[in-house]
Amino acid sequence: MRMYDIIKRKRDGGELSDEEISFFIDGYVSGEIPDYQASALCMAVFYRGMSLRETTALTMAMVRSGDVVDLSRIPGIKVDKHSTGGVGDKTSLVVVPLVASLGVRVAKMSGRGLGHTGGTLDKLESIPGLSVSMDRTRFERIVSEVGCAIIGQTGDLVPADKRLYALRDVTATVDSIPLIASSIMSKKIAAGTDRILLDVTCGSGALMKTLDDALDLAQEMVSIGECVGRTSVALVTNMDRPLGYCIGNALEVAEAVSTLRGEGPKDLTDVCVELAATMAFLVGLGEMDVCRSLVRDQLAGGLGLAKLKEIVAAQGGEASLLDDACDSLVAPRPSREVTADRDGYLFAMDTERCGLASVALGAGRAKKDDAIDHSAGIVLVAKPGAAVRAGDVVATLHAASDPLLDEGERLFRSALDIRHERPKDAPLIYARVSGLGVERRAARRSPKGREAGPSPDGPVPRP
Ligand code: URA
Repeated sequence: MRMYDIIKRKRDGGELSDEEISFFIDGYVSGEIPDYQASALCMAVFYRGMSLRETTALTMAMVRSGDVVDLSRIPGIKVDKHSTGGVGDKTSLVVVPLVASLGVRVAKMSGRGLGHTGGTLDKLESIPGLSVSMDRTRFERIVSEVGCAIIGQTGDLVPADKRLYALRDVTATVDSIPLIASSIMSKKIAAGTDRILLDVTCGSGALMKTLDDALDLAQEMVSIGECVGRTSVALVTNMDRPLGYCIGNALEVAEAVSTLRGEGPKDLTDVCVELAATMAFLVGLGEMDVCRSLVRDQLAGGLGLAKLKEIVAAQGGEASLLDDACDSLVAPRPSREVTADRDGYLFAMDTERCGLASVALGAGRAKKDDAIDHSAGIVLVAKPGAAVRAGDVVATLHAASDPLLDEGERLFRSALDIRHERPKDAPLIYARVSGLGVERRAARRSPKGREAGPSPDGPVPRP
């Protein structure tokens, strides 16, 4: 077999065999296939796409390139959740404990912030003492005894993806649906759970900017899951605005805690209930309506918050800091109010720029090994749909110094679009994709006919 022929066949629109795909992945990981041939193939895939059979073969060849987690010693059906990334997206901190409080085993491997998006591990590490790295024995013990653990990747999972992703990043081949789907699903499959919930975000703050692309990615990933016996469901969710009101690590933990107390913003609460109910559905706790009411009962009874504290304590964190309004979790920082420069409606918020503003304030990393400021970030006061007057505060920024606030303010202001017209209502959840197909959701109108998202006066944690 020759890599030249494989590249040529894909370039000309042909279909690769499973053997050719394994040949490519094995050879690339061993170093026998050089970067220039791998990037030529990625570019050919970018233009020609892949059939589901090819994408599944690519996924499984990548899974075989490294360690695979064996969760079989943990009793019951294990489920994982993956989000394709967002801004203010703290859903895992709410959903995972809620689902675990129903007795479901959640073995969660999470990531760090990437680009303008935040990461669950960085958020969790704003809780003093909490460790997200542990050996497999401790991970399995916590999942068995507490019902859930949230950690960084253990072992050498999917080394093929590490190499290939780094290559795609510098060869303009990241945004290819078969390459993204196989990259994400290979890591989820190697992480060893039986069922997978996928949150495919869509909009200005997401990897997928259009609904068509988000639906394609969701369908591709769900189909791969079906093909390899890992039942998966995807929700396509709205990331044209930050989720909730807080962006930044400790601020987001505080908002997640208030949501688990039943006092969170409406958009965040609604998305979390749907995600948690879908996870409960995936492990067979009942039909979706039953699962929604199970989750809402757990929320109302404070059982999700109690479970989050158990998880935090089991991972060495100071769970008592999640009491009250998490006052001591968010350290005081110099702050700056950003005000509207004219009357009108906050028509749109470029969510990627909001994320970049938060990174500039110190909540994310410009380079891989940069330290982050867990207390930096943005607390929104207005979200798209809100009527504003010139001088009204739209958000408060928090950072360690004036120069950081200057840069954060510049970026945040560039995200705001204030107009005379009110934006159209948009759904929080666009669609649910399962092995049975795509179920589209319509925009909801709130009783006042205003924004379908959070109530503008929803409580937000005060740093
Ligand atoms: N996230 C991944 O893990 N892989 C991709 O290819 C894109 C986003």
